[in-house]
Amino acid sequence: MSVRIAPSILSADFAALGSAIAAAERGGADLIHVDVMDGHFVPNITIGVPVVQSLRTIATVPLDVHLMIEEPDRYIEAFVKAGAAMVSVHLEVLPHLHRTVQAIKALGAKAGVVLNPATPAASLHDIAGDVDYVLVMSVNPGFGGQTFIPRSESKVREVRALLDRAGNRAPIEIDGGIDQHNVARVVAAGAEIIVAGSAVFHTQDPERATRELKAAANAASLDELGTP
Ligand code: DX5
Ligand code: ZN
Repeated sequence: MSVRIAPSILSADFAALGSAIAAAERGGADLIHVDVMDGHFVPNITIGVPVVQSLRTIATVPLDVHLMIEEPDRYIEAFVKAGAAMVSVHLEVLPHLHRTVQAIKALGAKAGVVLNPATPAASLHDIAGDVDYVLVMSVNPGFGGQTFIPRSESKVREVRALLDRAGNRAPIEIDGGIDQHNVARVVAAGAEIIVAGSAVFHTQDPERATRELKAAANAASLDELGTP
């Protein structure tokens, strides 16, 4: 199993997103994680469709768009048209989650479902066969630079078991407070897409930080397989 690294540009300099993305890609970024916040579902406001459209012209890897917004159904098509290859939506805001997941897929993007720290893994039960990936939040969404919530590690194991029972090999993405010190633990628990914001962009050398995080993640994944 090869782990994918998704640097989150939330912690980058918004005046220089092009060079931030280029550095992350030189370091081996597999995806670019884009955090969209509306000031309602989460307290913060970040970026929207036009920015994703511009990022699409400079990024060479797929854009992984994490929607932390109310009524995401209103915007999904615009984000996919702007260039989102992956779109994740929060279970907490969607009474008709099945319809939303199908709508994302019908637009040709990968559909992800996100769980906040207080949302039980079991809430995924009836949608587990339909998702392309599950995003486990390991902080409360809204801001970069928060501390990893330890319970998230067992949550990843629970989600993996639930997906496996549904016969779905969809990967688990983890987001929030991931760094060089805890990445091995979450990979060992079953995370296969690693989001990192401050651990990449709040360093002197985002290229190197991406490379080192990816190496640590892949080493942990090899350990899991019992390979040296
Ligand atoms: C938080 C966002 C994260 C954030 C992670 O709400 O969803 O993607 O950028 O930042 P770090 O890695 O600094 O916790
Ligand atoms: Zn995110």
